[in-house]
Amino acid sequence: MVAISWLNNLKTCKMERRKFVKYTAATGAALMLHPFKPFALPVTAKIKLAQVGTGHRGSGFWGAGLVENFKDVVEFTGLHDINPGRMVYAQKLYGGNIPTFSSFDEMLNKVSADYIIVTTVDATHDEFIVKALNKGFNVITEKPMTTDEIKCKAILDAEKKSGKKVLVGFNYRHSVHNMQLKELLVAERVGKITSVDFHWYLNVYHGADYFRRWHGRMNKGGSLWVHKATHHFDLLNWWLNSEPVEVSAYGSLEHYGKNNSFRGTKCRGCEYKDKCKFYWDINKDQRLVDLYVKNEQHDGYIRDGCVWSNEIDIYDKMSAQIIYASGVTANYSLTTYSPYEGWTIAFNGMKGRIDTSEDIPFMQKIQEDQSKKHAVEMSKSDDSKAGEVREIIAMDNFSKNFEVYTTPRISAGHGGGDVRMQRRMFVDTNDNPHHIMAGTRDGAMSILIGIAARKSIKEKRPVKISELTDLVPMAKRF
Ligand SMILES: NC(=O)c1ccc[n+]([C@@H]2O[C@H](COP(=O)([O-])OP(=O)(O)OC[C@H]3O[C@@H](n4cnc5c(N)ncnc54)[C@H](O)[C@@H]3O)[C@@H](O)[C@H]2O)c1
Repeated sequence: MVAISWLNNLKTCKMERRKFVKYTAATGAALMLHPFKPFALPVTAKIKLAQVGTGHRGSGFWGAGLVENFKDVVEFTGLHDINPGRMVYAQKLYGGNIPTFSSFDEMLNKVSADYIIVTTVDATHDEFIVKALNKGFNVITEKPMTTDEIKCKAILDAEKKSGKKVLVGFNYRHSVHNMQLKELLVAERVGKITSVDFHWYLNVYHGADYFRRWHGRMNKGGSLWVHKATHHFDLLNWWLNSEPVEVSAYGSLEHYGKNNSFRGTKCRGCEYKDKCKFYWDINKDQRLVDLYVKNEQHDGYIRDGCVWSNEIDIYDKMSAQIIYASGVTANYSLTTYSPYEGWTIAFNGMKGRIDTSEDIPFMQKIQEDQSKKHAVEMSKSDDSKAGEVREIIAMDNFSKNFEVYTTPRISAGHGGGDVRMQRRMFVDTNDNPHHIMAGTRDGAMSILIGIAARKSIKEKRPVKISELTDLVPMAKRF
């Protein structure tokens, strides 16, 4: 991939130096310290996968995605989902005659697998991870690893006892842009980092969608502090190479849920269809119809639920301050009803500051359709186009100059992270630049920030990570 800078078009830039950084796998390999080899896999046979949870992410990225991109190295040996309709949907989608099981225990008893892939509703991950470990399987789990500190401990204990490994699918780490940022931080481009400003904006399409689904219930996804922010806290932990010690947080539900004068149960057939700005027609998306609408009779799950439901009990506005064992303080916020979807981050160092962002409309040349943005993010193709880049700016103290580092602008597959993560899992299993492959400690440290944030809001006080785990936060992880 060639990174091209177009910043010379911007009138306000006065640069003397400019850096063109080309990120390649070799860049990562050169900096690799500890090859990640948790799984003793046969080198000749295909890697066998059994999956629990064949919903959108499960059947898409982990199912059809693997079959499409890695069919020479992986094969599915078993599928289970509590919804039999979605299970059969996945079986057809993956092709072949993959055995389906009406119970997870039965699948574990009968299947031959190198990994159990867990892609169910967040609050159920622990059950499947622990059972699989106890039966002697390695596990790959979607984020968040789980949703509370008790389940988190159960996973850590089961992994230790079993001698098997759990890999957590933190795909955002693998995006080209996020890796470039990591490399600048590892190289201490602006000296020792002392504080971070990190702000994430979900738009009124994708942000609202969390409130239509199971994600809007605390007991299913642990709130967006855990379901969504686990990505962001993991990035922070990884970028900073340190672990959190204390969290102070604020949050409220003041846009969705109870905050409206009218409400229905689902968008289909809703009497408020014409006046509700959040009306959404699931029937326009055949995949979602096949996955959810056609299978409602099995479990009653409504995919196009009302964003104004009184049962929504998560926060839609969140902010936190996180103190790291290294002394770094991070200021974080998450908004769920922004006109645009994107994020900004700044790392303040002893010698300067690094700034970057993704997809802030007024900072980019080409505008995206905000209503389609998330579908592109979840899609499998690599949509980088020559000439379109993302930028990371490094500015030194006492200097009026700054350097611009560019990476190709990839929106699909979570910034290109999806396919790169799977390649490292199943093909280039020695490629572990900057300890990019995440395990249970990473899974725990990211959710514990969100769990501490929930507790901090409830109890109106700063919460120490040591209140939630026996893990002792490390100032320097590696
Ligand atoms: N890394 C990412 O970028 C990313 C993106 C999307 C989703 N995810 C994660 O993937 C997971 C699945 O999300 P999704 O969007 O596909 O949700 P989904 O609702 O489409 O799918 C969840 C599936 O789990 C099944 N399920 C629920 N409880 C079960 C149980 N007890 N036993 C067996 N099956 C059960 C449901 O029937 C459904 O088919 C979640 O953990 C989510 O956080 C990650």
